Amino acid sequence: MPEYFSEERSVEAVNARMGRDINPRLAEIMASLVKHLHAFARDISLSQEEWALAIGFLTRTGHLCHDERQEFILLSDTLGLSMLVDAINNRRPPDATENTVFGPFHVEGAPIRQMGENISLDGKGESCLFIGRVLNLNGNPIEGARIDVWSDNADGFYDVQQPDIQPKWNNRGIFVTGADGAYSFLGIKPVSYPIPDDGPVGQMLASLGRHPYRPAHTHYLITAPGHQKLVTHTFVGDDPYLESDTVFGVKHSLVAPFERIDRPTIWRSDFDFVLTPIEDGQ
Ligand code: BEZ
Ligand code: FE
Repeated sequence: MPEYFSEERSVEAVNARMGRDINPRLAEIMASLVKHLHAFARDISLSQEEWALAIGFLTRTGHLCHDERQEFILLSDTLGLSMLVDAINNRRPPDATENTVFGPFHVEGAPIRQMGENISLDGKGESCLFIGRVLNLNGNPIEGARIDVWSDNADGFYDVQQPDIQPKWNNRGIFVTGADGAYSFLGIKPVSYPIPDDGPVGQMLASLGRHPYRPAHTHYLITAPGHQKLVTHTFVGDDPYLESDTVFGVKHSLVAPFERIDRPTIWRSDFDFVLTPIEDGQ
């Protein structure tokens, strides 16, 4: 007698259909996905109504995606999946600067600026001197490191969210280190802001009793020859959302000092970035 699909052997029934000559990694991924998906449905005794609700949710999530909005990545971010994938793929030595979530607001092609230049072009917010070095694991300076930096403005929006209001490239710039590995630029002490919450992900957060806020942070993408790419933030230590970042991006080591100096810049934030060398075969 042929063995048809049944509740008991649902996983075997589906996975047995895979062809022999398919990509082995795809076979591994799909077999595991089916196993965990079926276990999940069994675990919660998924009802037909709940299944239909989930399909509707995913459909609305897909419909909201276009070149400037990626609701599926937002879903992954708010479920902690983006940070888990980031952690799995960026295991670093203890002294190296840790990665965190990339986010949707990076823009390629920001202007290359001179050290010390001001990236805040709208005149809003509390000015801050960002200063430090890019180092290797031995504590030696890295020359030619490219520091791509971006942050929100004092109203909690990135320039690309307000193209008619903010100057282009507001709070963005690229700085390239010299032989001393040092960097410095003026910006603003960033402020906390909600992720886009007018779609299905926002509805999900609200129905789970979760807020959509990210604690104040400055984004960095740092690249240097012979070193692993570093995608990270520095966080402002007194932010009320540090312990409840809606995308789980906070790490202890990334909470930076913000010291009040008042001359005429209001704040100063010192932070050294430590890059990991690329090993053979990476
Ligand atoms: C951000 O920090 O820019 C961000 C990260 C994840 C989701 C939304 C925004
Ligand atoms: Fe951000």
